[in-house]
Amino acid sequence: MPRTATTPAPPFEELLQRPGLAWMGQNTTHLEPPPEVIDALLDSTRRREFQLYAPALGFTELRELIVADLGLQDSTAMITDGAVGGLYHLCTALAPGLSRLITTDPGWPWPARFVELEGVPVTTVEVYSAEAGYKLTAAALAGVIEPGALLYLIDPLNPLGSSYDRNELEAIVDVARANAAIIVHDCTYRHFADAHTLVAGLYPEGTLTTYSFSKWLGLAGLRLGALVGRPELLGRLTATPSAPLGANIQAQRAAIAGLKVKDPWLRRLRQVNRRNQQIVTEAVARSSLGHVLVDPSQGNFLAVDVSEQNWTADQICAELLERDVFIRSGTYQSPAFGERFVKVSTSVPAEWAERFAAAWAELEPGGTGTPR
Ligand SMILES: Cc1ncc(COP(=O)(O)O)c(C=O)c1O
Repeated sequence: MPRTATTPAPPFEELLQRPGLAWMGQNTTHLEPPPEVIDALLDSTRRREFQLYAPALGFTELRELIVADLGLQDSTAMITDGAVGGLYHLCTALAPGLSRLITTDPGWPWPARFVELEGVPVTTVEVYSAEAGYKLTAAALAGVIEPGALLYLIDPLNPLGSSYDRNELEAIVDVARANAAIIVHDCTYRHFADAHTLVAGLYPEGTLTTYSFSKWLGLAGLRLGALVGRPELLGRLTATPSAPLGANIQAQRAAIAGLKVKDPWLRRLRQVNRRNQQIVTEAVARSSLGHVLVDPSQGNFLAVDVSEQNWTADQICAELLERDVFIRSGTYQSPAFGERFVKVSTSVPAEWAERFAAAWAELEPGGTGTPR
């Protein structure tokens, strides 16, 4: 399989002009939000809070609610401009002390790019393998780790949908601890998982946990997230915060409101997500275009291997986009395997999942599309 350059993001401003588009390409959530979240946004706007700066590390109430949500009592949180703002900050702030960053392919490419800007080398472990469970194994990590490394561990793993159980994480932590490595546990998709273990519970002194409001609460455009860690480690990042004038104040009000109604919201969200995953999985199974890689996916997306037929991943995405269904090619997230799979986001209205199914069926050999 030839390596491909990373495919640039589609022109979102054009996509936004398409009112009928099914957004199933960014792992964002498109359900009617909890009314409390909308009320908090409107209320903050009416009170013109947008004229103020927020506290540098975020509202205390929000920071405490995040720590409580994770159940990491001895940790503190700093609010960031999305999880990615926290990732950028930690990558640049910790870079001088890092020997290397270790990540996976497929994975989420940005932290590796951030440390590369600082001259830190990157090792990418290939995990597109059923034997490895489509995830990083402790043995593979042991083969590449060195003292002072940073392991960027995405769990559940975007884009494959795999997740790590406690035993697997314990084995990974043993390797990390022996090398005094920092683990950044990217928990962006944690709320969609059937079960989830926090690395911070196993390796508190060496773990930073990322938190995002983009996916489970559907606040992607508001740009709000957090970094969570023990004060000794997080203190290396809070001393000079990346956003000293505070993160989006209205977003923080919305996040507080969302955390207060989290349980009923998550029950509904997970139900919708699972049902849509079924619709997509069944549509894929009925076709001869590919197969779902990790079932059940622990995220709000499914990766579909399409390597054993005529269409390329990019062609499939282009054909679906013509049918007003936006999904993403693996080339966005995987230099080594991107041509082999597409990714379909599922925390969306059921009607969109049905539209995906109908559009996918049209791509059958003999359908209206043009095979490669
Ligand atoms: C693994 C991973 N981490 C971080 C992010 C960014 O999250 P946020 O929107 O909170 O910046 C994403 C977004 O897709 C992601 O997939």
